[in-house]
Amino acid sequence: MNMKTSLRIPAFLPAAALLAAGFMACASAAAGTPYTERALRNYDTYCVQCHGVKRNGRGVNTRDMAVQPRDHSDAKGMGDIPDEEIAHAIKDGGLAVNKSVLMPAWGNVMSDEEIKELVAYLRFVCNCGSTK
Ligand code: HEC
Repeated sequence: MNMKTSLRIPAFLPAAALLAAGFMACASAAAGTPYTERALRNYDTYCVQCHGVKRNGRGVNTRDMAVQPRDHSDAKGMGDIPDEEIAHAIKDGGLAVNKSVLMPAWGNVMSDEEIKELVAYLRFVCNCGSTK
């Protein structure tokens, strides 16, 4: 029997098994995420300048803003806003929900589906549901 071959095969098999297990772990983690990749990307593209990379309302734009953006990580504050109002504010802007005009309207940028996904993402960020 060729010693070299018999040594190489057992060394290769566990590595392949580990690799497969790794892929499976990644796939199940993705399936368990309560928001879409697209929502995360949209937030990081359009919202962080004001609402902050930490989602706490302290984005780079905010120093001179007369009205400070909502702290999306605040469970109490976000819990006070029903899902429909969050979606309405995102789609039609702050004025549409009697809030500041400094919150822009995104209805021309994002589809209703994307806005719905953002609402789900915001519920993940605040770790809260609507209390209204
Ligand atoms: C130019 C700055 C700016 C950007 C960009 C911005 N916001 Fe805002 N946002 C604000 C401000 C300011 C308020 C607070 C308005 C108020 O309380 O009167 C706000 C409030 C909100 C609220 C609370 C609405 C309510 O009814 O109280 C939500 C939800 C929100 N923003 C989501 C988003 C999302 C999602 C994005 C990205 C798609 C975004 N914002 C981008 C400035 C911004």
